[in-house]
Amino acid sequence: MSEHWNQVYDTREPDQVSWFESEPATSLELFDLLGVTPHDSVIDVGGGQSTLVERLRSRGHSDLTLLDVSASALAQTIARAGRDVATTLEADVRTWVPTRRYDVWHDRAVLHFLSAEEATHYAHTLRQAVAPHGGVIIGVFSPEGPTTCSGLEVTRYDAAHLGELLGEDFDVVIERRVTHLTPNGKSQSFQWIAARRRARGSSLESRGVTADEIL
Ligand SMILES: C[S@@+](CC[C@H](N)C(=O)[O-])C[C@H]1O[C@@H](n2cnc3c(N)ncnc32)[C@H](O)[C@@H]1O
Repeated sequence: MSEHWNQVYDTREPDQVSWFESEPATSLELFDLLGVTPHDSVIDVGGGQSTLVERLRSRGHSDLTLLDVSASALAQTIARAGRDVATTLEADVRTWVPTRRYDVWHDRAVLHFLSAEEATHYAHTLRQAVAPHGGVIIGVFSPEGPTTCSGLEVTRYDAAHLGELLGEDFDVVIERRVTHLTPNGKSQSFQWIAARRRARGSSLESRGVTADEIL
């Protein structure tokens, strides 16, 4: 798995991969709607060369973690954004065991590469990693999206499927279908969700963010 992704990042220009976006606009919009503040810690799972960590850093976030199976992606992001932009974790989310909790789990275009069994394990890992008050933002190919990406087969998800995967601890508070335009001009349909963990006294709830208001 790491060989595949290292080869992609070692041979393709950052703005020529199909998932390239100059700004992580949907992600940042969902961070805002979920009431995430600079005090919240964030892990970007399979963050690759995304500029999300830089954008969050410039919003004042100080506790950012970038996890990716590709050492090349991590090295290139650090070379671009600086060593202090985030803590980097070279790890495969299918086997990674979190050693701390995060206020927000973000994943754009990673979960859809996993098999059904791996996705169940991913959800288990997510529940271990997300703080009791935490938020989850996931964007993956929708049922109208492509069936492969980067030469790999994908699983496509609608919002209900993503909600089921997260489990009953989480309320899906935002659902979005967003069309991503690749550098080659192809449209790809993404399903996005933002969810939060049900927990009394959560920091998001104490800021007055409720599911009803967000919907
Ligand atoms: C399609 S790219 C998306 C990158 C980034 N999230 C973005 O939006 O630009 C998928 C990323 O997930 C990483 N990845 C794929 N499978 C992974 C796994 N099992 N564990 C961790 N990272 C993985 C790849 O190295 C790659 O950076």
